[in-house]
Amino acid sequence: MKLSQLRKAVLPNARREYPLYGPEELQKLRRATRFNARLMDELRTHVAPGIRTSELDEIAFVFTRDHGHTPACLGYKGYPKSICTSINDVVCHGIPDETELQDGDIVNLDVTTIVDGWYGDQSETFLVGEVSEEARAVTQVAFDALYVGIRAIEPNGTVYDIASAITRYAEERGFGVVRNYQGHGIGQAFHQEPGVPHYPHESTRRNVIVPGCSFTIEPMINAGRPETVIERDGWTVRTKDRSLSAQFEHQIYMTEAGPEILTMTENGPQEGHQF
Ligand code: MF3
Ligand code: CO
Ligand code: CO
Repeated sequence: MKLSQLRKAVLPNARREYPLYGPEELQKLRRATRFNARLMDELRTHVAPGIRTSELDEIAFVFTRDHGHTPACLGYKGYPKSICTSINDVVCHGIPDETELQDGDIVNLDVTTIVDGWYGDQSETFLVGEVSEEARAVTQVAFDALYVGIRAIEPNGTVYDIASAITRYAEERGFGVVRNYQGHGIGQAFHQEPGVPHYPHESTRRNVIVPGCSFTIEPMINAGRPETVIERDGWTVRTKDRSLSAQFEHQIYMTEAGPEILTMTENGPQEGHQF
């Protein structure tokens, strides 16, 4: 029996099984996530007032294809583009179109790549030009909430630990934590167990993250209420109260010593960054 199979057999949350990855699989995860982070650094250089979200999508598509890889979002459950571009009150899954980014917008770019069958997934919210204090604040809280979540999880800790820490952090500051969308296990599939909610649902109290697990944390934080609505396009998720929303996402690998962030960029905001 392989070590990974042995571990799977002793998972306490046996009804919520997920694959565990050893050193060889970690190398493949690292290749996918490092490429994905490079793509984010490439997109970063183009985010500015006046660029269309469809142009950012095209840049991502071409960069990915030219490196021999595949945009994971393109065609996923019928999704029509290579990346998600979520502006202002759009929480997630905004579809790139002819809209030009405007001075004062905040925009989340959510980027996922398949490299030799392995997935890398991350997102960042960008400030476009000079933004309002409220836009800056929701972006800051979303960024800090991601790191609060990462620092809250230990080997054999639970997804509930992540959610409790994130929710306490955001709600203490008067922000809403989106409940309808969550982080997820990821490896040779885009979305797999474990589900990683950012709000502490009682049913997830015993859902552990053991060494060898690959997963995302991706809190969506609203300046107002946490409720969301889906547009008629079937994808675009907005805040129900039309308040601003921001999100950051990292893909994480749990080692015996603690979480390893797989999707670190070279030029993006680092832990502790002030927007
Ligand atoms: N990247 C998103 C996530 O973090 C999923 C986007 S699915 C799409 O899980 F179809 F909208 F692209
Ligand atoms: Co994502
Ligand atoms: Co994700």
